[in-house]
Amino acid sequence: MTLSKDFLWGGALAAHQFEGGWDQGGKGPSVIDVMTAGAHGVPREITKTIEEGKFYPNHDAIDFYHRYKDDIAMFAEMGLKCLRTSIAWTRIFPRGIEEEPNEEGLKFYDDVFDELLKHGIEPVITLSHFEIPLYLAQEFGGFRDRRLVDLFEKFAEVCFTRYQDKVKYWMTFNEINNQMDTNNPIFLWTNSGVTVEEGENPKEVMYTVAHHELLASAKAVAIGKKINPDLQIGCMVSHVPIYPFSCNPDDIMASEEALRQRYFFADVHCRGEYPTYALKEFEREGYNINITEEDKEILRNGTVDYIGFSYYMSTTVKSDVHNDNTGDVVNGGLANGVENPYISASDWGWAIDPVGLRITLNRFYDRYQLPLFIVENGFGAIDEVEADDSIHDAARIDYLRKHIEQLELAVNHDGVDLLGYTPWGIIDLVSFTTGEMKKRYGMIYVDRDNEGNGSMKRLKKDSFYWYKQVIATNGEDL
Ligand code: BG6
Repeated sequence: MTLSKDFLWGGALAAHQFEGGWDQGGKGPSVIDVMTAGAHGVPREITKTIEEGKFYPNHDAIDFYHRYKDDIAMFAEMGLKCLRTSIAWTRIFPRGIEEEPNEEGLKFYDDVFDELLKHGIEPVITLSHFEIPLYLAQEFGGFRDRRLVDLFEKFAEVCFTRYQDKVKYWMTFNEINNQMDTNNPIFLWTNSGVTVEEGENPKEVMYTVAHHELLASAKAVAIGKKINPDLQIGCMVSHVPIYPFSCNPDDIMASEEALRQRYFFADVHCRGEYPTYALKEFEREGYNINITEEDKEILRNGTVDYIGFSYYMSTTVKSDVHNDNTGDVVNGGLANGVENPYISASDWGWAIDPVGLRITLNRFYDRYQLPLFIVENGFGAIDEVEADDSIHDAARIDYLRKHIEQLELAVNHDGVDLLGYTPWGIIDLVSFTTGEMKKRYGMIYVDRDNEGNGSMKRLKKDSFYWYKQVIATNGEDL
């Protein structure tokens, strides 16, 4: 089994989950800065302002802002070929509406990218990873407001222009399709700065917001290509393959329908037009989504170059089940979701299904024939530090090994065009859904707990040495 010598082995992070320095260098607050810590089964609270006495774990995160040189040196020691991270919109435009960008914020990313490149690590950048300016959420209602299309385009233009010689691979919106799950308020809030009001139809709100974001993404792609045709600009979707519980045709149809929730955004990003099943849904449900002829043209002219996606788990549906929908992240809010008896799950209930990754790669490639990039995959678990500071994270290694085996099969046996693999949270960081530190993904441990205590010291886990060897052998030695 061999992978191309250019295969991008890397690690993935997002600005708000690891940078810290939330109010430094002229940065404004983002939607995540008003989210408190939760836990498995305890939702994160979204407060209106920063409230005294509440703990906001993303404010300091793991303080990469002040420690980036040392952290990047560790990434280099691991042999990373790329690092996927995001640019916090609020470092560049603190409220999202300024005429001129914040030079101090732009300079911070210049320094980080230069440091990465110095070590031969290519930055792979997401423009919006749950970091919309709080001002836009509170004063404009987030992406409900069409004006955000141009504000995002301007932010993208500034980033493409400034970093075009340092960054080739870009993505517009992280896991844009999470917000399909309108039962869990954190998705619309973090993706789009949107809260559903009493009396509103959440799905109609979501599709309106989605339309604006899809336009913003398409405009960003178009302007990026104009600035520099060599830039590769992709989308980023969260993919959870949805299986039928049985070979009963009703279960199979239920899984097909549920899968549309997963494909909808990628369909528009890749094909430049709305899929017919969505148009039928708007018509059937009476949703009033204002899609103009000009909008259609924008979508057609802004299709993506590749598909970045996250893969953590699969889920299963059964046609004759109807759960009380809790908006549980684990089943993606599916009312007919059931447990899959063939696979186990992590302590946070996330199904562990390596073959699902190969299925995902094949389905995407068959559907769109575009290059793919696995920009998140990983295992959130509790780690124990031994007396000698070693950390034996065998379960994480096992998870990653099995997923890499499947990606190699997809490339070498199935012929999928795969650009790279960046496991999530290469260094421990704040969990998105729970705000915890103890749900750790990293190969580098960070001494910090759920309440914000700890020295922030970095330690190498067993997976650090294992992944270093995987990269050094281009995936041969797993
Ligand atoms: C994805 C996000 O949903 O999964 C990341 O893009 C997130 O931001 C990751 O951290 C893992 O989720 P969690 O909730 O375990 O941190």
